[in-house]
Amino acid sequence: MSVAKKDYKRITTKSLIEMKSNGEKISMLTAYDYTMAKIVDTAGIDVILVGDSASNVMAGHETTLPITLDQMIYHASSVVRATERALVVVDLPFGSYQSDPKEALRSAIRIMKESGGHAVKLEGGKEIKESIKKILNAGIPVMGHLGLTPQSIYKFGTYSVRAKEEEEAEKLIEDAQMLEKIGCFGVVLEKIPAHLAEQVAKSISIPVIGIGAGGGVDGQVLVIHDMLGMNNEFSPRFLRRYLNLYEQMTSAIGQYVTDVKSSDFPSEKEQY
Ligand code: KIV
Repeated sequence: MSVAKKDYKRITTKSLIEMKSNGEKISMLTAYDYTMAKIVDTAGIDVILVGDSASNVMAGHETTLPITLDQMIYHASSVVRATERALVVVDLPFGSYQSDPKEALRSAIRIMKESGGHAVKLEGGKEIKESIKKILNAGIPVMGHLGLTPQSIYKFGTYSVRAKEEEEAEKLIEDAQMLEKIGCFGVVLEKIPAHLAEQVAKSISIPVIGIGAGGGVDGQVLVIHDMLGMNNEFSPRFLRRYLNLYEQMTSAIGQYVTDVKSSDFPSEKEQY
C-alpha cells in the first residue's frame, strides 16, 4: 500500500504524531555538522537526530560516554543552522541528566537555548521518569530511547540484541507506555526483536522509531555515516548501506594525491 505524503513546511512533534495516525512512515537520520545536515534536510528527511553517536563517528571514541554537553551543543547548533524542514532532536549526553531531575532540566534548557534544537532525547525508562517529567513540564519536547541504550554499555557489557527474555521485554513495554503517558512525543527502540517492537508500536499512539527493530514500527533511524558507507568497520545485520563512500572517497583522494604529485593539478584552466 502506498501512503500519500503530506507536504509539511516544518516538521513538528505534532506532525510526527499525525504521520503515525495516517500510516505515513517517519524517516530519521543523524547529522552532526552544517554541510551534512543541509544535504539531509534538502533530501527531505523528517527528523534529524544530533546523536551522541557523534562521540564515535565524529570524535573517534569507542563509546558514546565521553562526549560532553558543550560538544553536543556545538554539533546541534551547526545542524540547526542548516535545516529548514526537519525537526532537530538532540541527545542529552551521558552525565548530563542521570544524577537528578534539576540537573536534567538544566542540561535540556542549555541545549534548547544554546543550540536552537527542537527537542531532546534521553536514554532509559522508569529510572529517569522524574527527570523526563521535569523537562516536559518546562515545555521541552522529549523523545525516549529504550532497548539497547549505548550510554549503559558498561552495565550490559555488550551491544547485542536486548529484551530477548520475557522479563526485559515486559519492562520495555511498561517503559514505553509510561513514556507515552507522561507526555513524550516519540520513542526510539534500538536493537530489539522485531515482534516486540511491533507490539510496542501498536500499543502506544506516539511514534516508535526503530534502529535494528524491524519494519513493524512507525519509522526508521540510522547513523548517516553508516548508511552512506563511510565507515566500513561497522556492519550490523540491521544496516542497509546506500553508498560505499569509504571506497569512493579513498579513491578520489588517492587520485588527488597522484594529480598533485604528477603536477597534473592544477591545469591552466584551474589557475588565474
Ligand atoms: O546517538 C545516536 O545516533 C542514536 C541512534 C542510534 C538512535 O541514539
